[in-house]
Amino acid sequence: MSKTIIISNRLPLQLQIDNKKIKATPSVGGLATGMKSVHRDSNGIWIGWTGLTEEEIPADLRDEVVDATIKEQCVPVSLSEEDIDGFYYGFSNRTIWPLFHYFMEYTEFEKESWQSYVEVNEKYAEVVLDNIEEGDTVWVHDYQLMLLPALIKKERPDVQIGFFLHIPFPSYEVFRTLPWREEILKGLLGSDLIGFHTYDYQRHFLSSVSRILRHEVSFNEITLKDRIVTVNSYPMGIDYDKFSEAAAKHDAAKNQSELQRRLDLHIDSTPDAKMILSIDRLDYSKGIANRIRAYEYFLEKYPEFKEKVRLVMLAVPSRSNVPQYQLLKKEVDELVGRINGKFASVSWTPIWYFYRSMPFENLIDLYTTCEVALLTPIRDGMNLVAKEYVATRTDKKGVLILSEMAGAAQEMSEALIINPNNFEEIADALKQAIEMPEAEQIKRNKFLQKRLKRYNVEKWANDFMTSLKDTAHKSDIVK
Ligand code: UDP
Ligand code: G6P
Repeated sequence: MSKTIIISNRLPLQLQIDNKKIKATPSVGGLATGMKSVHRDSNGIWIGWTGLTEEEIPADLRDEVVDATIKEQCVPVSLSEEDIDGFYYGFSNRTIWPLFHYFMEYTEFEKESWQSYVEVNEKYAEVVLDNIEEGDTVWVHDYQLMLLPALIKKERPDVQIGFFLHIPFPSYEVFRTLPWREEILKGLLGSDLIGFHTYDYQRHFLSSVSRILRHEVSFNEITLKDRIVTVNSYPMGIDYDKFSEAAAKHDAAKNQSELQRRLDLHIDSTPDAKMILSIDRLDYSKGIANRIRAYEYFLEKYPEFKEKVRLVMLAVPSRSNVPQYQLLKKEVDELVGRINGKFASVSWTPIWYFYRSMPFENLIDLYTTCEVALLTPIRDGMNLVAKEYVATRTDKKGVLILSEMAGAAQEMSEALIINPNNFEEIADALKQAIEMPEAEQIKRNKFLQKRLKRYNVEKWANDFMTSLKDTAHKSDIVK
């Protein structure tokens, strides 16, 4: 039976070795959480990195590592410390990530890390080619593997290859600064179908292809010598039922709330204060530092809300070997300390800050307990947290404040949409959210939930796979 092969840098499970024992934890980030449901319901395999380098795995545990991944329908790609340094911490996260999120001042152009990116993409290609059988379909994910489609196509022109980019594709004027812009585009064009979260990212990509490679681009198709590459936008959804059902279950057992327990313990004795939630990986693209400053501005502009609100902020550790992430951690620590020091009273702490990842049940607790969600990315491919928050509002109450720079904002116009650089607007949106009549909250969430339920992650994956199958027909016409 033919199968779908999913490939991403990070597998949905991350392995750790603890006391000679292998421990698996779920991966964090939109790609892993979203694709997990798609993979769970398929007969396919998922190829990627386990989170352990070759050096970290003792010889006597190598088989166990493979077994632990195979058990989850996954196949590991073996990467060395040097690979991770050059490919992951280097080119992927010091070149592509900042450049594609318009942080040009953070972008490094290092030849060595580019070379490592090429080599690691070749390592992935080897594993994929070993696992392809006739009739299989390949679905490559994200910015770490942009050379992979062409590497596979070269060896297996018979195989249908899809690629999905989970982050923004920047405008041509930004993308053109990359010294390896041609190689990246050619790598991607090994695909038959290339998908983006939004029409704007798609447009930017097509414009780069026509201006840099001078290929003929007509509407959403690129004509190559022997094939047509289709480009389209598919806004990724969430596993709506998983979130709404977990929230309903959580509501039924209210006493499980960790946040409520904290209040009961009198860590803070303003139990009626409205909870404002923020959840992200600790990443400069998420606008976390600005969010805290905007919250400070809000408390200054509207002092009547002191002791009436509380910012519950979960920042998940991420890419902590990259200097910009270390600097951000320091900045956020200092900001939280300064603002809590400035405004706190005996009975009230304005920011509750958690720097860790949380298991699913605790995330649901945060989502369901907080009356407002404040998500202010400077740039974000999609932002699934925004969708998850809305899906967990079982009584349809709650207000989402969302940055217009997140891909998700394009489908969520009933949220309060703000410019993350405009503190005035954020402060006013916070006031509006806190004072919003329940009937209006319900009205807005009704629309949002209906849309999220209909265009869930399953529908997203099906749409992509259906379009991918259709591309076979288009290329037959060219031949
Ligand atoms: N998430 C998680 N553990 C946590 C916090 C968040 O698994 O402790 C998940 C969250 O549920 C969401 C994803 O991480 O599905 C974040 O995806 P998003 O698209 O918002 O941002 P990304 O991290 O992909 O940039
Ligand atoms: C985003 C990216 C993913 C990545 C995730 C977590 O969602 O689009 O490709 O896996 O962040 O980042 P990490 O560097 O830990 O894999």
